Amino acid sequence: MDNSESDTDVPLRGVHTYALRAGRMTEAQKRDYEIHSARWCLPFQESIINFADVFENTNPVTIEIGFGMGRATAAIAQANPDKNYLGIEVHRAGVGRLLGEIEKRGLTNLRIVEHDAIEVLHTMVPDRSVAAFHVFFPDPWPKKRHHKRRLMQRPRTDLLAAKLEKDGYIYMATDWEPYAEEAYIELSSTEGLASMFEGYAPRQEWRPETRFEEKGLEAHHAIRELMFRSVRRDEADERP
Ligand SMILES: C[S@@+](CC[C@H](N)C(=O)[O-])C[C@H]1O[C@@H](n2cnc3c(N)ncnc32)[C@H](O)[C@@H]1O
Repeated sequence: MDNSESDTDVPLRGVHTYALRAGRMTEAQKRDYEIHSARWCLPFQESIINFADVFENTNPVTIEIGFGMGRATAAIAQANPDKNYLGIEVHRAGVGRLLGEIEKRGLTNLRIVEHDAIEVLHTMVPDRSVAAFHVFFPDPWPKKRHHKRRLMQRPRTDLLAAKLEKDGYIYMATDWEPYAEEAYIELSSTEGLASMFEGYAPRQEWRPETRFEEKGLEAHHAIRELMFRSVRRDEADERP
């Protein structure tokens, strides 16, 4: 099989992996959004950013795509002050909620972009700059006609792989078995990535339970975890 090309016709841009919900914001979320977004949110921009400028240090950067209400995001950032985190989400209520958590917990290593993660990666994130991607319970898009909206498929996984630094990894958890199966195949077929485990990864105990995981467990769904590491050989590695 030729791994360099997707066998689907999914476009990288133009088909969204999310559906914007009208969902009301609580008063607290609105207040936190109004007061704190200027400090902790990076506006979407049409040019590459420099993480060292953004975080004012050179610690490794983990990007979380689709943090929802940000429950796991805030806890992970708090537990790892020597790492930087960039959460990307289109759902404003979740952005407001996470801004409140940043302030409550006094976090300085977490920033937010309220925008489509695919566009953010494409336009703002330098190649080979990301230590890890966290994707927790991405929208499963169960209907066949919606499968093209799934995040974890080529060419979107090609984009993620291009942004990973040497030895960086992609970590995904899902309660939707058919999506886990498809994502495993797609990630295995993405050039420059290799599974870190024979099959699915074991439960990563450091990951707090997320809101959507809770729903999946209530529905008696099995949780699947996937971890793929960057194995791309950089030109610099080839030099004698
Ligand atoms: C099913 S929810 C999971 C939320 C959270 N990770 C959890 O486990 O509770 C998926 C989230 O991903 C967000 N999302 C999906 N595609 C996205 C994209 N391209 N950019 C930013 N957010 C996205 C959606 O808005 C939604 O909030």
